Amino acid sequence: MGAPLKVAVLISGRGSNLQALIDAFGPKVQDSPVTIVLVLSNRPEAPGLERAAQAGLKTEIVDHKTFASREDFDVAMDREIRATGAEFVVLAGFMRLLTPQFVAAWQDRMINIHPALLPAFPGLDTHKRALEAGVRLHGATVHFVRHETDTGPIIAQAAVPVLPGDDESTLAARVLAAEHQLYPLALRLVAEGRVRVEQDRVVISDAPAMEGALFNPALPR
Ligand code: GAR
Repeated sequence: MGAPLKVAVLISGRGSNLQALIDAFGPKVQDSPVTIVLVLSNRPEAPGLERAAQAGLKTEIVDHKTFASREDFDVAMDREIRATGAEFVVLAGFMRLLTPQFVAAWQDRMINIHPALLPAFPGLDTHKRALEAGVRLHGATVHFVRHETDTGPIIAQAAVPVLPGDDESTLAARVLAAEHQLYPLALRLVAEGRVRVEQDRVVISDAPAMEGALFNPALPR
């Protein structure tokens, strides 16, 4: 195996996906294909910063409110990220729109997790909108970041059922549990060099494909 991929994780809030990445790739993990060299938050009060500190990871705050423009903010973030030697950026509940310059600088070296089966339900309030649309399967997507929000080559997806009686919070919890497995899976594939982008679509080598189909409601036994 080559040297571990040096990753900066960008957060804005709770950081439960960050925690899943720490559990999979953090300092306590032997032979990890990933080293988390930085956890950066745009919000000083983000609870995820505490998780990072607990794990002994380097943290930085780049508070967007202290910058005159989005461009200035992104330049400051870029500087902090590069100063750590990070080669790859992982957005984990990072809730700021990025400038085209920042996205271009990290083209095919930046991934995001989105709480829906893209291209369905880009943007905010995905669980509410999935319930309103009456879909039977919902889920999460990990994708490379492109300038248009919640677009970009898809690396991996997890589907969950929408169940009778679901509300936004029960559905969100089901999706989030899947996210916590999905993000480490996708980042591992990237770090192991098994993911490449061809004509703006992802090709994965040597990963087992899902078999069969998902049904909701389930097929009769
Ligand atoms: C996650 O559900 C993630 O998919 C979503 O924010 C949540 C962050 O939770 N991201 C987006 O909506 C990005 N557009 P976390 O802070 O506990 O990981």
